[in-house]
Amino acid sequence: MTETFRLEKSALPTEGHAVRVMVNGTPVAVFRVGGELHAIDARCTHVGGPLDRGAISGNQVTCPLHGSVFDVRDGKVIRGPAARPVTAYRARLEGETLILERD
Ligand code: FES
Repeated sequence: MTETFRLEKSALPTEGHAVRVMVNGTPVAVFRVGGELHAIDARCTHVGGPLDRGAISGNQVTCPLHGSVFDVRDGKVIRGPAARPVTAYRARLEGETLILERD
């Protein structure tokens, strides 16, 4: 099943930054790195740290609470303590609207 969420382009992050948006009650972190937009659940799978407020380096974000590192492109854990990936969304722009999809 695919769920599609629409966000206005004006709410999108600038290069090297992230924003938190609410998608049907779920916080989602939207990143812009290397000119590409990526979106993952904003809550770290360790104990819920805010990934939208983490340090961004290339395609990686570091959770500000205990230092888990995730790949913003697919949500995979690069370094713990988190053991589970975060949900990743396919992100694309349609005109002035960001479309996020997940299976
Ligand atoms: S809450 Fe993210 S590493 Fe602990």
